[in-house]
Amino acid sequence: MADIIDIKVNGKQHRVEAEQGMPLLYLLRNKLELNGPKYGCGIGQCGSCMVLLNGKATPSCAVPGSAVAAYEITTLDGLVKDGKLDIVQEAFVDEQAAQCGYCMNGMIISAKALLADNPKPSDAEIRQALNGVLCRCGTHTRIINAVKKAAAQMNGNPNARKS
Ligand code: FES
Ligand code: FES
Repeated sequence: MADIIDIKVNGKQHRVEAEQGMPLLYLLRNKLELNGPKYGCGIGQCGSCMVLLNGKATPSCAVPGSAVAAYEITTLDGLVKDGKLDIVQEAFVDEQAAQCGYCMNGMIISAKALLADNPKPSDAEIRQALNGVLCRCGTHTRIINAVKKAAAQMNGNPNARKS
């Protein structure tokens, strides 16, 4: 049996028909063609499918699409404004944080949630915030540097990009 689901994603309202219990991840990728969130484990353990639900980084594979009608959902795709990368996305590019890139969605979404709450995180706070995302390639040092660079830029450090 199908559900009709109303959800707001990246500022736009959508009405979609989906099988009962369909995870938000499938709804975003298969119904709305938003491919920022990635399928990794499907059981809420790897973080590759992270989205922001009212600003909180949440694994979208572990949430039924029908449960998030009241939420503002933001995906990696929604961070790009007028064709321009978000400051966190740019910092990840500048630091060449990706190897295979599969974890980048989760890392960037988790970093966005962290920096919105805590614009000057310590290294320990960054590690804690990214703890729900697994990087199989082991680019952790560059990922942490990218979050620090984004934080520095958000705090008005003009030299942050040159480090
Ligand atoms: S695919 Fe959602 S946490 Fe792994
Ligand atoms: S860059 Fe490959 S999983 Fe993180």
